Amino acid sequence: MTDRPSLAVILAAGKGTRMKSAREKVLHEVAGTAMLAHVIANAQAAGFARKAVVLAPGMKQARALVEAEAGDIEVFTQSEQLGTADAVLAARSAIENFDGDVIVLYADTPLLRAETLVKLKDALAGGADVVVLGFEAADPSGYGRLIETAQGALVAIREDKDASTSERAINLCNSGVMAFKGAHLLGLLEKIGSDNAKGEFYLTDAVGLAHEQGLQPVAVRCEEAETLGVNSRAELARAEAIMQERLRSAAMAGGATLVAPETVYLSCDTRIGRDVLIEPHVVIGTGVDLAEGATVRAFSHLEGARVGEGAVVGPYARLRPGAEIGAGARIGNFVEVKNATFEEGAKANHLSYIGDAHVGVRANIGAGTITCNYDGFDKHRTEIGEGAFIGSNSALVAPVTIGKGAYVGSGSTITKNVADDALAVTRATQEVREGWAAKVRKRRNRDT
Ligand code: UD1
Ligand code: MG
Repeated sequence: MTDRPSLAVILAAGKGTRMKSAREKVLHEVAGTAMLAHVIANAQAAGFARKAVVLAPGMKQARALVEAEAGDIEVFTQSEQLGTADAVLAARSAIENFDGDVIVLYADTPLLRAETLVKLKDALAGGADVVVLGFEAADPSGYGRLIETAQGALVAIREDKDASTSERAINLCNSGVMAFKGAHLLGLLEKIGSDNAKGEFYLTDAVGLAHEQGLQPVAVRCEEAETLGVNSRAELARAEAIMQERLRSAAMAGGATLVAPETVYLSCDTRIGRDVLIEPHVVIGTGVDLAEGATVRAFSHLEGARVGEGAVVGPYARLRPGAEIGAGARIGNFVEVKNATFEEGAKANHLSYIGDAHVGVRANIGAGTITCNYDGFDKHRTEIGEGAFIGSNSALVAPVTIGKGAYVGSGSTITKNVADDALAVTRATQEVREGWAAKVRKRRNRDT
């Protein structure tokens, strides 16, 4: 990698009409992250420290996303969609007098790897003036074709609609990603006209112009799968499938066991330690951290949660944001945890809701325990002390504290604090009537 100043111009002005969505296209998510955020992160990872995003007028959601991103990202508006060259020109003030590497990326192409973008940078460092990322297309129709000489020198890109029959037979296509030596970019853009089949200003014309001026355009290649652009829900699902494949492979390469990887859904920010075991049919949303040796059993759903070393979650567990499961703790079937900490070795093995709570070391929460954390207006906390034992089917009405080593009798509704080592029982005393059932049967002549 070079340390020349580097700028990424990210084109995001596309309408995305085929998504049929109230959400702007580049806000649609792949593995839990908006496509635009993927592209920004990849540009950053590839060393493009400065970034400019080109939006269409009125794109409020994309603007808000960019403003929330770390670092200073410039936002430009392309007032009319006159073509990709015009879109780059919308960022004129960023590229004017910028004497470094400039890469142009599409915000709807989330699968491009940072390593691939670095190849374009390396080609510029190696003497190229314009670099095009090409790929061998299984079906090249619709793409711009890379026109090379017999010696393999890139001389032009021909858009599908403008190509001759022989040019259409070329399989080497333009991915849309192009990089430029900044010093030449504005000059090239200003010479691009719109005398073509679509009447648009094609960024791809920069290649032919550069060649005519004696500059050096070159092509570098990547896998077709990386270049997938998302224009429809079906393409979004394809991008998701490819991204999931990558994430599962990376998890396994990092030392995790995925029993049935094709049934496990991860997010791009999922952190998975060594010897983590993930059983089939697990969905992991954003913000999840699985520490070394943790187990997530089948059919569990996790988001915004941390699972400590050697802890076991599931089967059928739900961890919601703010769930912190300590080392060796156990969260069993049909247990929901939200904004609650389980300290080391604490357990809730069956059918519980634990929200806005702190559960002390080795405390045991019986089946069917509910923290009543919401009074219809506000949320309140429940504190369960170290080694406490909560009997099955108890309701803990927050705010409430159960002391260290205290017991709550099964079926209790606890509304007042329970002192350390005390027993609290609130259920009615059991009444027994000997022979009652037999008497009733007799009276009804059913004593068979
Ligand atoms: C473009 C390339 C083509 C390449 C293909 C890869 C040109 C002229 N053609 O064609 O060689 O094979 O991508 O997918 O560049 N955009 C704007 N403003 C505009 C026009 C486009 O921001 O005025 C953005 C779009 O949102 C999109 C990207 O640029 O993200 C590409 O535009 P699109 O219209 O899809 O170009 P293609 O015709 O597919
Ligand atoms: Mg396109």
